[in-house]
Amino acid sequence: MPNEFAIDITRIRDDARKHLEQGALTSADTTDVDRVVAVLNKVIASEMVCYLRYTQNAIVAQGIHREQVSAMFVDHADEELGHFQRVSDRINQLGGTPDMNPATLKERAITEYLEPEDPSDLQGMIRENLLGERVVIEVYTEIVHWLGDGDITSRRMMESLLKDEEDHADELNDLYEG
Ligand SMILES: [Fe+2]
Ligand SMILES: [Fe+2]
Repeated sequence: MPNEFAIDITRIRDDARKHLEQGALTSADTTDVDRVVAVLNKVIASEMVCYLRYTQNAIVAQGIHREQVSAMFVDHADEELGHFQRVSDRINQLGGTPDMNPATLKERAITEYLEPEDPSDLQGMIRENLLGERVVIEVYTEIVHWLGDGDITSRRMMESLLKDEEDHADELNDLYEG
């Protein structure tokens, strides 16, 4: 299972990178705004997928450590939803349209939606969520570098999201025994 997920990560990451490979942003170029909006629409899709995954996992989790793990997942889900809203507002500020179409959410997201096969395998759930956070951290770091001085407001927002995702990964890591 972890290996299959790792293969998917590579595909998803490579896909996300295509949007960043068209060169640096310059604030003078209005076509760049469309590129920022396209990238931020991938971010909101990812945040929604993370919100749904954490929420689903929090509800189905079983076992003696259920309470602790579910509480952490609920906290993370709340923050992912906050990220989703902040980035959607930013897309709107930029004159773009936040794309919340559920039909294309999964393809636009850089993270996977996973329902655990065994809801009592809390360690497995923690591992998959940790992998998800690591992908997000890697891609958001690239987005921060790509935004550079081309869009400082979006960059600062992404830096703030990145800090939260690093906190999520730390908290998951603290409970992961693998
Ligand atoms: Fe997030
Ligand atoms: Fe997160």
